[in-house]
Amino acid sequence: MSSYIIEGGKRLNGEIDISGSKNASLPIMAASILNKGITKLYNVPDIHDTKMMIEILKSLGCKVKKNKNKVVIDSKNITKYEIPENLMHQMRSSVIFAGAILGRYKKAIFSYPGGCDIGARPIDLHLKGFEKLGVNVNQNYGKIECSLDRFTPNEVNLDFPSVGATENIMLLATLGNGITTIVNAAMEPEIEDLALFLNKMGANIKGAGTNIIKIIGVRKLNDVSYNIMPDRIETGTFLCATAITGGETILKKVNNSHINPIIEKLRESGCIIEINNNELYIKAPKRLKAIDVKTMPYPGFPTDMQSIIGATLCVANGTSIITENIFENRFKYINELQKMGAKIKTEGRTAVIKGCRKIYGAQVNATDLRGGASLIIAGLIAKGITKINNIDYILRGYERIDRKLQILGAKIYLA
Ligand code: EPZ
Repeated sequence: MSSYIIEGGKRLNGEIDISGSKNASLPIMAASILNKGITKLYNVPDIHDTKMMIEILKSLGCKVKKNKNKVVIDSKNITKYEIPENLMHQMRSSVIFAGAILGRYKKAIFSYPGGCDIGARPIDLHLKGFEKLGVNVNQNYGKIECSLDRFTPNEVNLDFPSVGATENIMLLATLGNGITTIVNAAMEPEIEDLALFLNKMGANIKGAGTNIIKIIGVRKLNDVSYNIMPDRIETGTFLCATAITGGETILKKVNNSHINPIIEKLRESGCIIEINNNELYIKAPKRLKAIDVKTMPYPGFPTDMQSIIGATLCVANGTSIITENIFENRFKYINELQKMGAKIKTEGRTAVIKGCRKIYGAQVNATDLRGGASLIIAGLIAKGITKINNIDYILRGYERIDRKLQILGAKIYLA
């Protein structure tokens, strides 16, 4: 795996464009197979995970053309209904194909995605939702075989507002008959983007973005062109990169309505942030103030920003407390930050960060996508050189993050 080399201490300055959302692109690419036709997607981030989704689409029988951020999917002749095991294990979120394949084919075979670096990440809520809608689910030797004799419209109450389970149930119910209601649905912006895409394709989905979503089944869908929403976590990442370096930047092509919890926390820590349509201006203070952060389902502070704001607060003035309420194992990045001199103690789901004036460049290892991003944030301010290994994790979710940081004046290179 390659590495990033960062020479810390450069104040970020300038402006960049934010890319399309990874977590909106993945379910929308899966949803395209519900229509036996052509789907044109724009503003798709050119990252590892979207390339993996294209591999899975092709393995099912789709023809896919990709030209940087434009992806054209021809799903007329899907021949398979099994998600390849090796691709399932390489990318957990490929489980999102299950609802779409079931919706189109009335059967689906996929393997248990298994845990990953941030927690067990079970899919019990996905499977319970499928069964509530009439799907027979059989599990043997890690393979899950689903079949649907007759779709049963129903009310699905989610024990937890799971993003993936909400998306999978929406995909299954789109071509079902009758009205399916999801109660305690996830309210993340990516859910709204998926519903906007599906409705543009001819589906009838109401309430996306609230905790009650109604899907009125339709019989047929049509070809569609769609522009993916901006990535709110990439936006937050560059806000934190500016904040930690005492910089002043403009982020363009953002959706400001998706990032209030992030903006409010950075304002609380002393940043000036101005919203101007789809642009965001941030000017950071010389030194941030310590703040407390609790991750919650949307519209709370996003768990995907937890490690990134954690790194940002390592050099703040005072002690910050971070509580991770979504995943049970999302503090692995802290060991790496401690190698750089960060003063952080963890106790269960809480991390106590004692802000220090300086952290130091070191050789560190990315543990997962957002943990890797947190090491870049720390490297931008660390005294000396930081080498980040295992950056393939980072390349899964950020389109040319090194190039964008270079445009803002950072000294970061691929090694
Ligand atoms: C999505 O993952 C995102 N991934 C994650 O982003 C994000 O962190 C997460 O939502 C929460 O916002 C994509 O959209 C591709 P969940 P997902 O189902 O759907 C538990 C990133 O860095 N749970 O909302 O897998 C689960 O264990 C990634 O971009 C069950 O118990 O998240 C977790 O504790 C990381 N049973 C909590 O719910 C289930 O059946 C939230 O999971 C499903 C989930």
